[in-house]
Amino acid sequence: MKVLIIYAHPNPASFNAGLLQTIREELEKNALEYNLRNLYELQFDPVFSGAELGSVFTGKGSLEDVQYEQSLITKSDLLIFVYPIWWFGPPAILKGYIDRVFTHGFSFAFGPEGVTPMMKGKKAFVVQTGGNTPEAYAAYGLTDAPKDTMEKGILQFMGFQTHTHTLLAVQQISEEERINMLKSIQKNLKSFLNS
Ligand SMILES: Cc1cc2nc3c(=O)[nH]c(=O)nc-3n(C[C@H](O)[C@H](O)[C@H](O)COP(=O)(O)O)c2cc1C
Repeated sequence: MKVLIIYAHPNPASFNAGLLQTIREELEKNALEYNLRNLYELQFDPVFSGAELGSVFTGKGSLEDVQYEQSLITKSDLLIFVYPIWWFGPPAILKGYIDRVFTHGFSFAFGPEGVTPMMKGKKAFVVQTGGNTPEAYAAYGLTDAPKDTMEKGILQFMGFQTHTHTLLAVQQISEEERINMLKSIQKNLKSFLNS
């Protein structure tokens, strides 16, 4: 199984960096080949320009940097996304990666019968963290919003089989609770890899 990690956090001392480390260690334990796309380190350009948008929708294709990302996805069986929730969705750099890379004609197509998902057979394991408590999410009426957007609106739309973990209130928990969260992600990934 070939794995692609798509990681979006700018701070190497963050909890997300700890999640990334935990995930890499588990993949290595399982002797799995993986590629890491650290979007901030790569300074990935998230801006989907008018020219590029026009090129994609007239079938002329994406720019070279995007074609490279698409080639990595094509070769992968499992995509692992790790990111913080910023304004109830992924950080702009990851949103821009999704806008530019998962294009019409690459990840889905429109046919006479509607949308054809083109990522069927691939899996996605998503870990997202939030600063708010579950109670705050409920009070906003947004309990499942970040999960639903990524899982249903984006990944399942393209045909991925998904598995999402939303870790909330990570800013307010103790060191022990953080360690337990890392352990639970490690355990979940292990059972996902063996499923
Ligand atoms: C720009 C910005 C927007 C944020 N928006 C949200 C939000 O909508 N919901 C939420 O639960 N937390 C939000 N947060 C808090 C982050 O999700 C939280 O700080 C992060 O998940 C903690 O993980 P880290 O230590 O790895 O950064 C936001 C933080 C920033 C910087």
